[in-house]
Amino acid sequence: MISFILNDKKYITGLPPGAVTLDLLRAEAGLSGTREGCKEGDCGACTVLLGTLLPHGIKYMAVNSCILPVGELHGRHLVTIEGVNPEEGLSSLQQVFVDEGASQCGFCTPGIIISLTGYLLGRVDPDVTGAADSLAGNICRCTGYVSINKSAKTISGLIGHSPAERCTSREHLEWLVEKEILPPYFLGIEETLKTMGTGEPDTSEKSVSRNTVTVAGGTDLFAVRAEDLRNSELRFLSRKKGMKEITVLENRILIGAGATVRDIIDSGVFSDSGNLARSLHLVASAQVRNRATVGGNIVNASPIGDLTIIFLALDAKLRISNGSDYREVQLKDFFRGYKVLDLSPGELLESLEYIAPDSDTFINFEKVAMRQHLDIASVNTAAAFRVNGGRIEKADISAGGVAPVPLYLGRTSALLSGMSISTDTAQLAVRTARSEVSPIDDVRGSAEYKKLLLGKLIAAHFVELFPRQIDAGLLL
Ligand SMILES: Cc1cc2nc3c(=O)[nH]c(=O)nc-3n(C[C@H](O)[C@H](O)[C@H](O)COP(=O)(O)OP(=O)(O)OC[C@H]3O[C@@H](n4cnc5c(N)ncnc54)[C@H](O)[C@@H]3O)c2cc1C
Ligand code: FES
Ligand code: FES
Repeated sequence: MISFILNDKKYITGLPPGAVTLDLLRAEAGLSGTREGCKEGDCGACTVLLGTLLPHGIKYMAVNSCILPVGELHGRHLVTIEGVNPEEGLSSLQQVFVDEGASQCGFCTPGIIISLTGYLLGRVDPDVTGAADSLAGNICRCTGYVSINKSAKTISGLIGHSPAERCTSREHLEWLVEKEILPPYFLGIEETLKTMGTGEPDTSEKSVSRNTVTVAGGTDLFAVRAEDLRNSELRFLSRKKGMKEITVLENRILIGAGATVRDIIDSGVFSDSGNLARSLHLVASAQVRNRATVGGNIVNASPIGDLTIIFLALDAKLRISNGSDYREVQLKDFFRGYKVLDLSPGELLESLEYIAPDSDTFINFEKVAMRQHLDIASVNTAAAFRVNGGRIEKADISAGGVAPVPLYLGRTSALLSGMSISTDTAQLAVRTARSEVSPIDDVRGSAEYKKLLLGKLIAAHFVELFPRQIDAGLLL
């Protein structure tokens, strides 16, 4: 049995761990405020808050309930729109939406209110830009985003900053209750969660059969296979100790395969790595980033996975375990063909590691997608150049969307080492990269277009990283 707190009450369900939370809410619990839209993580109508008990309080995050398996709820706090309603009237956030005329048919409104509440729960210093960005995963068909964004900005201006140091602290919750964003029952949840225990059911360590499906964030699995996973045997990596750890050693960085995109952003580990930290905000939406893991991004082997493309350019090495032993493999050798990996059934990707970039290493990521947010790339690429005395000592360049696998551009990377940084070198890199790829025509563009685009993005690496040595007019 899976037991958790649903809004202000304990709840036990007999649904299988692979059922999705949206179905539990609407069909079993009768909470229809959480809407069903796309059921693929795309529209945000089903957004809920998931609170996890940590040693220093509860961490709440907005997630898409349509791709959240029920097994993830055990020992946690699940909050729906009904759970943020005050006993009487409207919360201050809901009132701002009314005042700004930011709701028309109202279908998207519960998801938007929850996303913004999740943003305020996750920040002690909310700001206008962050509030608006937190809604990139919520689609509205009728109101128009001007009044919605205005509401997001108004509320962050109205409430100011929290007196708390950490957003997981009780003081932060007290502040949100005082500002009438949350109802007072939130203050008693930590104690109740402590009495419930979070250990069971821990499916991460039990013996794994060939049929066991490993669930990390589930954002890929449940977006495409929710029906057949409902009654499958699952193991949830979020329960496995150590899988989320991000460690900075003297000259190496270790990232647990269970670390989410949000964990990487919050850790600051990319802060000295060119535009990588900023680029992570373009991966999917806040809700998906809160769940999507590094391991899932690599093992799903999508040729356009953003994290995979980034870690290829960082020349990362993977640590793979079979339960009793482990082995290491370079990420660039991990992909053997379309969705064919150097990973046996039962093996687990535990972590990855790469050399920490120093001040002589220049890193850049470029992504072109049909829309800025909530879209996978048509073509993406990352580059890391270690430079000494105006020459490239080592180059690592990757490219997505141009081959059946996320591609390490081996020939282009090798060719560049020892070359001076110049427009000629950049032009050579563009030509070599184009000759190294074999894209296909698909909905994201023709093969010819993708080759052309890759060339432009390779050129963009040089222009972004070495603006004084490169003549952009000759390249772009
Ligand atoms: C709306 C939406 C937008 C998206 N936008 C983007 C985007 O902009 N950029 C992008 O790159 N991706 C995007 N994705 C794709 C997806 O979210 C990511 O690839 C994500 O990182 C997958 O991670 P996960 O933890 O959710 O994987 P899961 O769905 O849990 O797992 C994916 C696969 O990997 C296996 N697996 C997971 N972890 C391990 C492990 N440690 N060891 C062995 N096997 C493992 C699982 O068994 C499964 O086969 C998007 C998805 C959605 C739904
Ligand atoms: S129903 Fe669209 S994101 Fe869940
Ligand atoms: S108000 Fe109608 S979909 Fe947003």
